[in-house]
Amino acid sequence: MPTILERYQQQFQNHRNLAQQANQIFPDGITSDGRYTEPFPIYIQQAQGSKKTGICGKELIDYWGGNGALLLGHNPPEIVAAVTQQIQNGTHYSACHSLEIEWANLVMELIPSAERVRFTNSGTEANLLAIRLARTYTGKKKLIRFVGHYHGWHDSVILGANETPESGISQSISDMTIVCPPNDIHAVEKWLQTDPDIAGIILEPTGACSGVIPTTGKFLSQLRELTQYYGVLLIFDEIITGFRIAPGGAQAYYQVMPDLTTLAKVLAGGLPGGAVVGKTEILNLISKREQAKLAQGKKVSHLGTFNANPLSAAAGIAMLKIVKTGEPQAQVEQLAKTLRRGLNDIIDQHHLDWVVYGKFSCIKFLIGHQVHHLKTADFDPYQWNFCQLMRRGNPELRQRLRQGLLLSGVDISLSSVTMTAHSAADIEQTIAAFAQTIDWMKADGLI
Ligand SMILES: Cc1ncc(COP(=O)(O)O)c(C=O)c1O
Repeated sequence: MPTILERYQQQFQNHRNLAQQANQIFPDGITSDGRYTEPFPIYIQQAQGSKKTGICGKELIDYWGGNGALLLGHNPPEIVAAVTQQIQNGTHYSACHSLEIEWANLVMELIPSAERVRFTNSGTEANLLAIRLARTYTGKKKLIRFVGHYHGWHDSVILGANETPESGISQSISDMTIVCPPNDIHAVEKWLQTDPDIAGIILEPTGACSGVIPTTGKFLSQLRELTQYYGVLLIFDEIITGFRIAPGGAQAYYQVMPDLTTLAKVLAGGLPGGAVVGKTEILNLISKREQAKLAQGKKVSHLGTFNANPLSAAAGIAMLKIVKTGEPQAQVEQLAKTLRRGLNDIIDQHHLDWVVYGKFSCIKFLIGHQVHHLKTADFDPYQWNFCQLMRRGNPELRQRLRQGLLLSGVDISLSSVTMTAHSAADIEQTIAAFAQTIDWMKADGLI
């Protein structure tokens, strides 16, 4: 019987042909580090609803969900209609337009701490702007961030996001970045007590990688108290959580209000786009008019060719009108719960040291945690060493699992999400694919 790897090489032969061309063009043959796949990635030609179709015609149930940007699935009719109409009216005005106002009004209606809005092109850019605003507002320079929390790939936030050391970051930026262990309020307090030059604290409010290392509402409240006491800005990176876990994001769910919030993904309805929102007096540091009035000379520059692009605005408006109801969030949460339970039942049946965990619509895999005889229901990520959670287990098993699932018609990553387009049949099929892959892994002598 062929191994999983042999099946993969054979079944996805024409994907390999494209990958070989891509290897001559792109580093690793890919255009984003997150798409790195051994021995080669899958190439997609089309997507609809809960599924993507590979260039070989194979249908794959998709749990990448556009890296969290697609709450409803691929091409929801409301968004297709909005973008189709807008594309007839122009894709780029280099001018103000009414859609940006409608879009921002929806953002302010939903996100409780949003008094003002500034659109950016991506989540990375939103965090870049938020940090610059925090430095300008406080007149201080340093940023506290947490191990494993991802805020984009720019210099100020990439240190500590991965276990691998980062290159190309200047010493001056490293000196301005304080990386604390996740959920460690004492470490944060110590820094705030001893260093008067801290401008802000940034975090993903549901924890590193949207809950791979989960955090608690209590930790958020403690951060809020400390930051207020020490005159430091609290920045919630709600690029994944915004609109996804609740219409008002994590801040509404946990009732903790940050000074600044960064948004992207669901914000733009599956098209590129981001935003910084927050207190008027902080966002007004971008304003020429306000700065002239205050004569402070503290203007934060913010430009961007594609900011509030009309296509993204049209998609974003259509999306936010739907997320406003709270129905999609409840639906994806229920789907994720059913999927997590189904996958864990299989793990328990096979007595594997694996677990699928997460909250809201999130599906997190830990494959090979090396604590044998631990039932998945007894797994408590808060009791777990955060480095182990971050590593996600055994790299070889993770690769084979991914390959086996792709062969069985499921494209799921170690950190995935459900979308409203997923049907009960999709969930059942995914659980069956997981069981099939485990059988193959056993036959390969991997587990
Ligand atoms: C929490 C979080 N912050 C920031 C980013 C960066 O956003 P973008 O990829 O749009 O630059 C991401 C992207 O995955 C994210 O998940």
